[in-house]
Amino acid sequence: MATLATATATAPAPAVVPRVAIPANGVDYRNKIVLAPMVRSGELPSRLLALKYGADLVWGPETIDRSMIGAERRVNPRNGTIEFTRMPSNGGRPNKPTKESIIYRIDPAREKGRLIYQIGTADPELAVQAARVVAADVSGIDLNSGCPKPFSTSGGMGAALLRTPDLLVSILEALVKEVGEPFQIGISVKIRILSNPEETEALVSRLVKTGITGLTVHCRTTPMRPRERALRDQLPMVARICHEAGVACVMNGDVTSRDEGLALMAEYGVDGAMIATSAETNSSCFRAKEDGGAAPWREVVYEYLCFCMESENRLGNTKYLLNILIPGKDKEFKGAKLSKTYLDICRVLKFDDLLPAAARVDQILGLDEKWETAPSVTDTEAQSESKSKAVQNAMESEAARAAGGGAVRTKTPSPAVHGGGPIRRSSAPQPAKVAQVDAEQPAVEATISAAQPQAPSQLTA
Ligand SMILES: Cc1cc2nc3c(=O)[nH]c(=O)nc-3n(C[C@H](O)[C@H](O)[C@H](O)COP(=O)(O)O)c2cc1C
Repeated sequence: MATLATATATAPAPAVVPRVAIPANGVDYRNKIVLAPMVRSGELPSRLLALKYGADLVWGPETIDRSMIGAERRVNPRNGTIEFTRMPSNGGRPNKPTKESIIYRIDPAREKGRLIYQIGTADPELAVQAARVVAADVSGIDLNSGCPKPFSTSGGMGAALLRTPDLLVSILEALVKEVGEPFQIGISVKIRILSNPEETEALVSRLVKTGITGLTVHCRTTPMRPRERALRDQLPMVARICHEAGVACVMNGDVTSRDEGLALMAEYGVDGAMIATSAETNSSCFRAKEDGGAAPWREVVYEYLCFCMESENRLGNTKYLLNILIPGKDKEFKGAKLSKTYLDICRVLKFDDLLPAAARVDQILGLDEKWETAPSVTDTEAQSESKSKAVQNAMESEAARAAGGGAVRTKTPSPAVHGGGPIRRSSAPQPAKVAQVDAEQPAVEATISAAQPQAPSQLTA
């Protein structure tokens, strides 16, 4: 009879699954159901909404390298969010008035350890310069290598990188060495499958050797339209190559809920699942059935509006997602669509308890000029609380960051505003009115290159 020792000696050694080390300030994509990067639909309020309903990680919208290079970083004293701002180009017209634009916004408390910044680039040096601007405030930098739209591919970015693997690899290597290592965060890439599985295999085999910690595969080819069913036959092969190199593999394409994501992860042997359009329609898809599952649209819209107002989100962007969140047949849909202010929206939707916050954010954004009916006294009076502890913390940690400088992590403030209930109403001094970039296209489109063609109504990276 074999002893335990001899049995152990003769048994095949268990397969050692390598894992690339996750940097100290980074995050492991394994066992995560995550919000996809979405231009327009992935601004701060929708990311907070997804997190509220259980998303494990959130990707920000693709932001083009040139738009972030030279951006100023500041903390908004009213809500503690970090804002990256810049002056837009005046399109060569010296007399054209320009207003500072907000390129990117981060909630350092609620997004801490959960935000991945996605970059659009076709140049290793520009990629590094841009990523360095935000690296200390995010948990990872993801490279967009899947957007098929001409505004992206014409500059060699997005899906065009799938056809220039040397360049793609050199960008990832530069990001790993110049940003990932010094800032101790992960670098990842989001690709599409290629029509020929051997080509996908060759590409992924190169990508996993660049030092990345994660790879997301959108299971559609570049020419495929968003409505075409995702193709999952290459997924096990991509997962195998990632796993052999110790890189986390996240699947994307037609994942509609947390529960479905978990089931698909088990079925295809991948480490995580990413949700885009289903989260756009109703972020409560991130909530497991056993925790309550999908929430009714009115609840989701209420929460979304709270986050929009707290974040001082541009009204056009808020309305863009409202038009998706409110079912088209509902009578409130038309009313919300025609609204010109936050006050109008809250009145149309009968969210009376939000009217004071709506009046306040309208004033901040300069929308009060469009009020058709002035708010009543009770709509505006609830502004007398002292500045919240959270905001004070944010200001203090900002001072600490300024003193420490570089890649040093800041002490993160506690959540700036609502944690699910009504939003905070602070009495910060009347703010300067702010402008925001049009989130309908990657930020650089709105700020750097006025000559670029308009992005189409829906992006399909
Ligand atoms: C409105 C919208 C904007 C998008 N913007 C981006 C983007 O900025 N970066 C990116 O990599 N993919 C982007 N995508 C693609 C999604 O991240 C995702 O890959 C695609 O929608 C497939 O996922 P789904 O089947 O869950 O919708 C966008 C998709 C939509 C609908």
